[in-house]
Amino acid sequence: MKKAIFTFPTHIVFGNGTIQTIPKELSKFQIKKALIVADKGLLQAGLIDIVTQQLEIAGVQYAIYDGVQGNPIEQDVYDGVKVYTNNVCDFVIGIGGGSPLDIAKLICLKSTHELPLEEYEDSIGGHKKISSNLPDFMAIPTAAGTGSEVGRSAVVTLESSGRKTVIFSPHLLAKVVIADPELTVGLPRGLTAATGMDALTHNLEAYLAKNFHPICDGIALEGMKLVSENLRRAVEDGTDLEARGNMLVAAMMGAIAFQKGLGVTHSLAHPLSTVSGLHHGLANAIVLPHAMDFNRQVSAGRLVDVASALGVETGSLSLEEGAQAAIDQVLMLCQDVGIPQNLSQVGVEANQIPVLAEQAIQDICHQLNPRVCTLQDMIDIYSAAI
Ligand SMILES: [Fe+2]
Repeated sequence: MKKAIFTFPTHIVFGNGTIQTIPKELSKFQIKKALIVADKGLLQAGLIDIVTQQLEIAGVQYAIYDGVQGNPIEQDVYDGVKVYTNNVCDFVIGIGGGSPLDIAKLICLKSTHELPLEEYEDSIGGHKKISSNLPDFMAIPTAAGTGSEVGRSAVVTLESSGRKTVIFSPHLLAKVVIADPELTVGLPRGLTAATGMDALTHNLEAYLAKNFHPICDGIALEGMKLVSENLRRAVEDGTDLEARGNMLVAAMMGAIAFQKGLGVTHSLAHPLSTVSGLHHGLANAIVLPHAMDFNRQVSAGRLVDVASALGVETGSLSLEEGAQAAIDQVLMLCQDVGIPQNLSQVGVEANQIPVLAEQAIQDICHQLNPRVCTLQDMIDIYSAAI
Protein backbone atom coordinates (compact mmCIF):
# COMPACT_ATOMS: atom_id res chain seq x y z
CA MET A 1 0.00 0.00 0.00
CA LYS A 2 1.22 3.53 -0.79
CA LYS A 3 2.17 5.93 2.01
CA ALA A 4 0.47 9.33 2.36
CA ILE A 5 -0.45 12.12 4.76
CA PHE A 6 -4.13 13.05 5.06
CA THR A 7 -5.15 16.29 6.81
CA PHE A 8 -8.68 17.69 7.33
CA PRO A 9 -8.36 20.29 10.05
CA THR A 10 -10.85 23.15 9.51
CA HIS A 11 -13.50 23.93 12.12
CA ILE A 12 -16.67 24.63 10.07
CA VAL A 13 -19.91 26.00 11.53
CA PHE A 14 -22.54 25.26 8.88
CA GLY A 15 -26.24 26.05 8.56
CA ASN A 16 -28.88 28.74 8.17
CA GLY A 17 -28.42 31.54 10.70
CA THR A 18 -24.95 30.42 11.81
CA ILE A 19 -23.73 33.97 11.21
CA GLN A 20 -25.12 34.58 14.71
CA THR A 21 -22.51 32.23 16.16
CA ILE A 22 -19.73 34.73 15.36
CA PRO A 23 -19.57 36.11 18.96
CA LYS A 24 -19.31 32.59 20.39
CA GLU A 25 -16.65 31.55 17.87
CA LEU A 26 -14.63 34.75 18.35
CA SER A 27 -14.68 34.31 22.12
CA LYS A 28 -12.24 31.43 21.60
CA PHE A 29 -9.56 33.91 20.47
CA GLN A 30 -7.80 36.83 22.19
CA ILE A 31 -8.63 39.70 19.82
CA LYS A 32 -7.77 43.38 20.19
CA LYS A 33 -8.94 44.45 16.76
CA ALA A 34 -10.11 42.52 13.70
CA LEU A 35 -9.57 43.49 10.07
CA ILE A 36 -12.59 42.72 7.85
CA VAL A 37 -11.50 42.00 4.26
CA ALA A 38 -14.19 42.36 1.59
CA ASP A 39 -15.06 43.97 -1.73
CA LYS A 40 -17.31 46.89 -2.63
CA GLY A 41 -20.12 44.57 -3.80
CA LEU A 42 -20.43 43.10 -0.31
CA LEU A 43 -20.63 46.56 1.18
CA GLN A 44 -23.46 47.46 -1.20
CA ALA A 45 -25.26 44.16 -0.53
CA GLY A 46 -25.26 44.95 3.21
CA LEU A 47 -23.28 41.81 4.02
CA ILE A 48 -20.52 43.68 5.83
CA ASP A 49 -23.14 45.23 8.11
CA ILE A 50 -24.37 41.76 9.05
CA VAL A 51 -20.84 40.91 10.21
CA THR A 52 -20.15 44.19 12.00
CA GLN A 53 -23.42 43.82 13.96
CA GLN A 54 -22.12 40.50 15.26
CA LEU A 55 -18.74 42.04 16.11
CA GLU A 56 -20.50 44.74 18.10
CA ILE A 57 -22.45 42.06 20.00
CA ALA A 58 -19.13 40.30 20.63
CA GLY A 59 -17.49 43.56 21.78
CA VAL A 60 -14.72 43.17 19.20
CA GLN A 61 -13.29 46.31 17.59
CA TYR A 62 -12.74 46.25 13.84
CA ALA A 63 -11.36 48.03 10.78
CA ILE A 64 -12.56 47.41 7.21
CA TYR A 65 -10.60 46.96 3.98
CA ASP A 66 -13.05 46.62 1.07
CA GLY A 67 -10.73 47.27 -1.88
CA VAL A 68 -10.40 43.69 -3.20
CA GLN A 69 -10.94 43.45 -6.98
CA GLY A 70 -12.76 40.71 -8.93
CA ASN A 71 -9.54 39.15 -10.21
CA PRO A 72 -7.32 40.40 -7.35
CA ILE A 73 -3.86 41.81 -7.91
CA GLU A 74 -0.80 42.06 -5.69
CA GLN A 75 -1.53 45.68 -4.81
CA ASP A 76 -4.81 44.61 -3.15
CA VAL A 77 -2.74 42.64 -0.64
CA TYR A 78 -0.38 45.53 0.13
CA ASP A 79 -3.32 47.97 0.50
CA GLY A 80 -4.97 45.58 2.94
CA VAL A 81 -1.79 45.10 4.95
CA LYS A 82 -1.57 48.90 5.29
CA VAL A 83 -5.05 49.04 6.85
CA TYR A 84 -4.18 46.07 9.08
CA THR A 85 -0.97 47.66 10.37
CA ASN A 86 -2.27 51.23 10.67
CA ASN A 87 -5.14 49.95 12.83
CA VAL A 88 -2.91 47.63 14.90
CA CYS A 89 -5.12 44.63 14.07
CA ASP A 90 -4.36 41.13 15.30
CA PHE A 91 -7.11 39.04 13.65
CA VAL A 92 -8.49 38.81 10.09
CA ILE A 93 -12.08 38.13 8.99
CA GLY A 94 -12.51 37.48 5.28
CA ILE A 95 -16.02 37.70 3.85
CA GLY A 96 -17.10 37.11 0.27
CA GLY A 97 -16.28 34.89 -2.67
CA GLY A 98 -12.86 33.53 -3.48
CA SER A 99 -11.23 36.89 -4.16
CA PRO A 100 -11.70 38.54 -0.73
CA LEU A 101 -11.01 35.25 1.06
CA ASP A 102 -7.77 34.67 -0.87
CA ILE A 103 -6.63 38.25 -0.31
CA ALA A 104 -7.48 37.93 3.39
CA LYS A 105 -5.13 34.93 3.57
CA LEU A 106 -2.37 36.87 1.82
CA ILE A 107 -2.87 39.86 4.13
CA CYS A 108 -2.34 37.43 7.02
CA LEU A 109 0.82 36.20 5.28
CA LYS A 110 2.26 39.61 4.45
CA SER A 111 1.49 41.05 7.89
CA THR A 112 4.28 38.86 9.30
CA HIS A 113 6.36 37.81 6.26
CA GLU A 114 8.66 40.39 4.70
CA LEU A 115 9.75 38.92 1.37
CA PRO A 116 7.99 40.14 -1.80
CA LEU A 117 4.86 38.10 -2.57
CA GLU A 118 6.45 36.43 -5.63
CA GLU A 119 8.99 34.71 -3.35
CA TYR A 120 6.16 32.63 -1.86
CA GLU A 121 4.91 31.31 -5.22
CA ASP A 122 4.17 27.60 -4.91
CA SER A 123 5.75 26.62 -8.22
CA ILE A 124 9.19 27.75 -6.94
CA GLY A 125 8.78 26.07 -3.55
CA GLY A 126 7.58 29.24 -1.81
CA HIS A 127 5.66 27.28 0.82
CA LYS A 128 8.95 26.43 2.54
CA LYS A 129 9.38 30.14 3.38
CA ILE A 130 5.98 30.38 5.10
CA SER A 131 6.09 29.88 8.88
CA SER A 132 3.22 29.49 11.33
CA ASN A 133 3.29 33.01 12.84
CA LEU A 134 0.27 34.30 10.90
CA PRO A 135 -2.67 36.08 12.56
CA ASP A 136 -5.75 33.90 13.11
CA PHE A 137 -8.25 34.02 10.29
CA MET A 138 -12.04 33.55 10.15
CA ALA A 139 -13.61 32.92 6.72
CA ILE A 140 -17.23 33.70 5.86
CA PRO A 141 -18.15 32.59 2.31
CA THR A 142 -20.97 34.39 0.48
CA ALA A 143 -20.72 32.28 -2.67
CA ALA A 144 -20.57 28.55 -3.32
CA GLY A 145 -17.63 28.17 -5.67
CA THR A 146 -13.95 28.42 -4.87
CA GLY A 147 -14.29 26.87 -1.42
CA SER A 148 -11.39 29.16 -0.52
CA GLU A 149 -12.76 29.20 3.04
CA VAL A 150 -11.41 25.68 3.56
CA GLY A 151 -8.49 25.86 1.14
CA ARG A 152 -4.82 26.26 1.98
CA SER A 153 -3.94 28.28 -1.09
CA ALA A 154 -4.56 31.75 -2.44
CA VAL A 155 -4.50 32.96 -6.02
CA VAL A 156 -3.35 36.46 -6.95
CA THR A 157 -2.06 38.16 -10.08
CA LEU A 158 1.54 39.25 -9.58
CA GLU A 159 2.62 42.59 -10.98
CA SER A 160 5.98 41.33 -12.26
CA SER A 161 4.62 38.47 -14.40
CA GLY A 162 0.95 39.42 -14.95
CA ARG A 163 0.16 35.76 -14.23
CA LYS A 164 -2.31 34.32 -11.73
CA THR A 165 -0.06 32.79 -9.15
CA VAL A 166 -0.82 30.15 -6.55
CA ILE A 167 0.56 30.64 -3.04
CA PHE A 168 0.17 27.60 -0.85
CA SER A 169 0.76 26.76 2.79
CA PRO A 170 -1.16 24.88 5.49
CA HIS A 171 -0.61 28.03 7.58
CA LEU A 172 -3.02 29.92 5.27
CA LEU A 173 -5.95 27.82 6.48
CA ALA A 174 -8.80 29.57 8.26
CA LYS A 175 -9.07 28.72 11.96
CA VAL A 176 -12.86 28.86 11.74
CA VAL A 177 -15.38 28.97 8.89
CA ILE A 178 -18.91 30.32 9.23
CA ALA A 179 -20.81 28.73 6.33
CA ASP A 180 -24.31 30.23 6.39
CA PRO A 181 -26.38 29.48 3.24
CA GLU A 182 -28.56 32.53 3.94
CA LEU A 183 -25.61 34.75 2.99
CA THR A 184 -25.57 33.27 -0.52
CA VAL A 185 -29.21 33.88 -1.54
CA GLY A 186 -28.47 37.31 -3.02
CA LEU A 187 -25.92 35.97 -5.51
CA PRO A 188 -27.29 36.67 -9.04
CA ARG A 189 -28.07 33.83 -11.47
CA GLY A 190 -24.97 34.25 -13.66
CA LEU A 191 -22.59 34.25 -10.71
CA THR A 192 -24.43 31.36 -9.05
CA ALA A 193 -23.91 29.34 -12.23
CA ALA A 194 -20.26 30.34 -12.74
CA THR A 195 -19.20 29.82 -9.12
CA GLY A 196 -21.12 26.52 -8.99
CA MET A 197 -19.24 25.31 -12.06
CA ASP A 198 -15.98 26.20 -10.32
CA ALA A 199 -17.05 23.92 -7.46
CA LEU A 200 -17.83 21.14 -9.94
CA THR A 201 -14.46 21.63 -11.65
CA HIS A 202 -12.60 21.36 -8.32
CA ASN A 203 -14.31 18.10 -7.43
CA LEU A 204 -13.93 16.67 -10.93
CA GLU A 205 -10.30 17.67 -11.44
CA ALA A 206 -9.38 16.45 -7.96
CA TYR A 207 -10.98 13.09 -8.73
CA LEU A 208 -8.94 12.76 -11.95
CA ALA A 209 -5.68 14.16 -10.47
CA LYS A 210 -2.88 11.61 -10.36
CA ASN A 211 -1.96 11.77 -6.67
CA PHE A 212 -2.89 8.94 -4.30
CA HIS A 213 -5.68 10.23 -2.06
CA PRO A 214 -8.68 7.90 -1.71
CA ILE A 215 -10.24 10.09 1.02
CA CYS A 216 -10.31 13.09 -1.31
CA ASP A 217 -11.63 10.85 -4.09
CA GLY A 218 -14.63 9.94 -1.94
CA ILE A 219 -15.27 13.57 -1.07
CA ALA A 220 -14.95 14.61 -4.72
CA LEU A 221 -17.53 12.07 -5.91
CA GLU A 222 -20.09 13.21 -3.34
CA GLY A 223 -19.25 16.86 -4.16
CA MET A 224 -19.99 16.26 -7.86
CA LYS A 225 -23.26 14.53 -6.96
CA LEU A 226 -24.34 17.51 -4.86
CA VAL A 227 -23.55 19.96 -7.67
CA SER A 228 -25.43 17.92 -10.24
CA GLU A 229 -28.49 17.69 -7.96
CA ASN A 230 -28.51 21.28 -6.70
CA LEU A 231 -26.90 23.78 -9.07
CA ARG A 232 -29.86 23.96 -11.45
CA ARG A 233 -32.18 24.54 -8.47
CA ALA A 234 -29.97 27.28 -7.00
CA VAL A 235 -29.78 29.05 -10.38
CA GLU A 236 -33.53 28.69 -10.97
CA ASP A 237 -34.56 29.94 -7.54
CA GLY A 238 -31.88 31.81 -5.61
CA THR A 239 -33.95 31.63 -2.41
CA ASP A 240 -33.98 27.80 -2.39
CA LEU A 241 -32.03 27.47 0.85
CA GLU A 242 -31.71 23.71 0.64
CA ALA A 243 -30.06 23.95 -2.79
CA ARG A 244 -27.94 26.90 -1.63
CA GLY A 245 -26.80 24.94 1.44
CA ASN A 246 -25.95 21.87 -0.61
CA MET A 247 -23.95 24.00 -3.05
CA LEU A 248 -22.08 25.62 -0.17
CA VAL A 249 -21.13 22.16 1.09
CA ALA A 250 -20.22 20.99 -2.44
CA ALA A 251 -17.92 24.01 -2.83
CA MET A 252 -16.16 23.24 0.45
CA MET A 253 -15.86 19.59 -0.57
CA GLY A 254 -14.27 20.67 -3.85
CA ALA A 255 -11.64 22.74 -2.09
CA ILE A 256 -10.98 20.01 0.48
CA ALA A 257 -10.71 17.45 -2.34
CA PHE A 258 -8.26 19.51 -4.37
CA GLN A 259 -5.59 19.22 -1.72
CA LYS A 260 -5.09 16.05 -3.80
CA GLY A 261 -4.42 18.22 -6.85
CA LEU A 262 -6.19 19.94 -9.74
CA GLY A 263 -5.53 19.66 -13.46
CA VAL A 264 -5.28 21.20 -16.88
CA THR A 265 -8.68 22.93 -16.71
CA HIS A 266 -7.41 25.28 -14.02
CA SER A 267 -4.15 25.92 -15.87
CA LEU A 268 -6.20 26.91 -18.93
CA ALA A 269 -8.68 28.96 -16.90
CA HIS A 270 -6.16 31.12 -15.03
CA PRO A 271 -4.85 32.93 -18.16
CA LEU A 272 -8.44 33.40 -19.37
CA SER A 273 -8.89 35.64 -16.31
CA THR A 274 -5.58 37.52 -16.48
CA VAL A 275 -5.42 37.95 -20.27
CA SER A 276 -9.10 37.97 -21.28
CA GLY A 277 -10.74 39.12 -18.03
CA LEU A 278 -13.11 36.16 -17.69
CA HIS A 279 -14.69 35.18 -14.38
CA HIS A 280 -12.75 32.18 -13.03
CA GLY A 281 -15.75 29.87 -12.76
CA LEU A 282 -16.99 30.79 -16.22
CA ALA A 283 -13.55 30.11 -17.70
CA ASN A 284 -13.47 26.68 -16.03
CA ALA A 285 -16.99 25.83 -17.15
CA ILE A 286 -16.29 26.52 -20.83
CA VAL A 287 -12.94 24.71 -20.86
CA LEU A 288 -13.86 21.72 -18.66
CA PRO A 289 -15.59 19.47 -21.26
CA HIS A 290 -12.64 19.94 -23.65
CA ALA A 291 -10.15 19.14 -20.88
CA MET A 292 -12.15 15.99 -20.07
CA ASP A 293 -11.98 15.04 -23.74
CA PHE A 294 -8.19 15.55 -23.63
CA ASN A 295 -7.90 13.36 -20.54
CA ARG A 296 -10.18 10.56 -21.62
CA GLN A 297 -7.42 8.44 -23.22
CA VAL A 298 -5.79 7.99 -19.79
CA SER A 299 -8.79 8.50 -17.45
CA ALA A 300 -11.73 6.72 -19.07
CA GLY A 301 -12.40 4.58 -15.99
CA ARG A 302 -12.47 7.58 -13.67
CA LEU A 303 -14.65 9.48 -16.13
CA VAL A 304 -17.20 6.65 -15.92
CA ASP A 305 -17.27 7.21 -12.13
CA VAL A 306 -17.80 10.93 -12.83
CA ALA A 307 -20.74 10.09 -15.12
CA SER A 308 -22.22 7.98 -12.35
CA ALA A 309 -21.76 10.77 -9.76
CA LEU A 310 -23.50 13.12 -12.19
CA GLY A 311 -26.55 10.85 -12.29
CA VAL A 312 -25.92 8.56 -15.30
CA GLU A 313 -26.83 4.86 -15.03
CA THR A 314 -23.44 3.53 -16.18
CA GLY A 315 -23.86 -0.23 -15.54
CA SER A 316 -24.42 -1.21 -19.17
CA LEU A 317 -22.02 1.32 -20.73
CA SER A 318 -18.60 0.58 -22.20
CA LEU A 319 -15.60 2.58 -20.99
CA GLU A 320 -15.82 4.87 -24.00
CA GLU A 321 -19.57 5.34 -23.64
CA GLY A 322 -19.24 6.08 -19.92
CA ALA A 323 -16.49 8.64 -20.48
CA GLN A 324 -18.53 10.31 -23.20
CA ALA A 325 -21.57 10.32 -20.88
CA ALA A 326 -19.55 12.27 -18.28
CA ILE A 327 -18.63 14.90 -20.87
CA ASP A 328 -22.24 15.06 -22.08
CA GLN A 329 -23.53 15.54 -18.52
CA VAL A 330 -21.17 18.48 -17.97
CA LEU A 331 -22.19 20.03 -21.30
CA MET A 332 -25.87 19.61 -20.38
CA LEU A 333 -25.38 21.15 -16.95
CA CYS A 334 -23.54 24.11 -18.52
CA GLN A 335 -26.41 24.60 -20.95
CA ASP A 336 -29.09 24.32 -18.27
CA VAL A 337 -27.47 26.96 -16.04
CA GLY A 338 -26.83 29.36 -18.94
CA ILE A 339 -23.06 29.03 -19.45
CA PRO A 340 -22.01 30.26 -22.94
CA GLN A 341 -21.00 27.39 -25.25
CA ASN A 342 -17.58 28.59 -26.29
CA LEU A 343 -14.84 31.14 -25.63
CA SER A 344 -15.75 33.25 -28.69
CA GLN A 345 -19.14 34.01 -27.12
CA VAL A 346 -17.40 35.62 -24.15
CA GLY A 347 -15.07 37.75 -26.28
CA VAL A 348 -11.92 35.60 -26.44
CA GLU A 349 -10.27 35.81 -29.87
CA ALA A 350 -8.25 33.12 -31.63
CA ASN A 351 -5.23 35.42 -31.89
CA GLN A 352 -5.00 35.43 -28.07
CA ILE A 353 -4.39 31.66 -27.94
CA PRO A 354 -0.55 31.76 -28.19
CA VAL A 355 -0.32 34.15 -25.20
CA LEU A 356 -2.92 32.18 -23.23
CA ALA A 357 -1.15 28.88 -23.92
CA GLU A 358 2.23 30.31 -22.91
CA GLN A 359 0.81 31.26 -19.49
CA ALA A 360 -1.13 28.01 -19.15
CA ILE A 361 1.97 25.85 -19.52
CA GLN A 362 3.71 27.86 -16.77
CA ASP A 363 0.77 27.37 -14.39
CA ILE A 364 1.37 24.77 -11.68
CA CYS A 365 -2.08 23.09 -11.69
CA HIS A 366 -1.54 20.84 -14.73
CA GLN A 367 1.43 19.12 -13.08
CA LEU A 368 -1.02 16.72 -11.43
CA ASN A 369 -3.23 16.35 -14.49
CA PRO A 370 -3.58 12.65 -15.32
CA ARG A 371 -2.23 13.21 -18.85
CA VAL A 372 1.02 15.13 -19.40
CA CYS A 373 0.37 18.47 -21.13
CA THR A 374 2.60 20.17 -23.70
CA LEU A 375 2.38 23.72 -24.99
CA GLN A 376 0.78 22.33 -28.16
CA ASP A 377 -1.84 20.53 -26.06
CA MET A 378 -2.74 23.85 -24.42
CA ILE A 379 -3.09 25.44 -27.87
CA ASP A 380 -5.22 22.54 -29.07
CA ILE A 381 -7.60 22.60 -26.09
CA TYR A 382 -8.07 26.38 -26.36
CA SER A 383 -8.66 25.95 -30.10
CA ALA A 384 -11.32 23.31 -29.43
CA ALA A 385 -13.03 25.58 -26.89
CA ILE A 386 -13.05 28.77 -28.97
FE1 LIG B 1 -11.16 27.13 -9.19
